Amino acid sequence: MLKLCSVSKKYAKSDTYAVNDVNIHVKGGEIYGFIGPNGAGKTTTIKMIIGVLSPTEGSIEINGTDIAKNGNKAKKNIGYVSDSHVMYDMLTGKEYVNFLADVYGVSAEDRQKRCEKLLEMFGMKDAFNSQISTYSHGMKQKINVIGALIHEPPVWILDEPMTGLDPQSAHALKTLMKEHRDKGNVVFFSTHVLEVAEKLCDRVGIISDGKLIKEGTLEEIAGSEKASSLEDLFLALTKKEK
Ligand SMILES: Nc1ncnc2c1ncn2[C@@H]1O[C@H](COP(=O)(O)OP(=O)(O)OP(=O)(O)O)[C@@H](O)[C@H]1O
Ligand SMILES: [Mg+2]
Repeated sequence: MLKLCSVSKKYAKSDTYAVNDVNIHVKGGEIYGFIGPNGAGKTTTIKMIIGVLSPTEGSIEINGTDIAKNGNKAKKNIGYVSDSHVMYDMLTGKEYVNFLADVYGVSAEDRQKRCEKLLEMFGMKDAFNSQISTYSHGMKQKINVIGALIHEPPVWILDEPMTGLDPQSAHALKTLMKEHRDKGNVVFFSTHVLEVAEKLCDRVGIISDGKLIKEGTLEEIAGSEKASSLEDLFLALTKKEK
């Protein structure tokens, strides 16, 4: 499970909160979509969840472990797909994935089995032995996903994962997210593609100006507002006065 308790973040030299008193609880077996306008605080929240940033206030639990108190134990349970592709460019895809598998202590048998399936799903078999510096944007994204799943993390965090993926790969990723959820894990991802959120998520949270302004299943959210789609609701809730 993933639990954020009254989490806030104020960057140094900033007067305002990038994330303001956010409470989120995602249980195993759930896909949670995190949506919000540019600059709303999604990436900041995600970086706190994975332990790259420390909250100014509040706490975060990963499978019952407070990430501020026992970072290593908490991080072992996380798989992360970043929104940027700052990677180890000089490694081949295979070296990169093996490096992560070593860090997480994945057995040779498990890594081979998982790699075979993921490489096949993403059409990355031929590129696996090439240097990452030669990969396209989408190929880097796919090797990121393979690396994030190599230890079958109980909590899988993805920041705008659909960006740059071709339709086949986006479909493969959505299949993987559902499979991961169905095994009882947490899948938490941010997206601007509301149709994807609508189809894929068990629950969504809408963040605006650092505040979680709406949360629930699509039925709950639609029931509470007069909106025929997530897009209508999103636009109504996040409308800025000009
Ligand atoms: N390193 C930083 N230093 C100072 N302010 C930052 C930093 N990173 C982000 N911010 C600010 O924090 C706020 C939230 O940014 P964040 O990147 O979390 O938004 P986001 O919801 O991920 O947006 P996007 O949809 O564009 O990816 C913004 O006002 C941004 O300017
Ligand atoms: Mg972002």
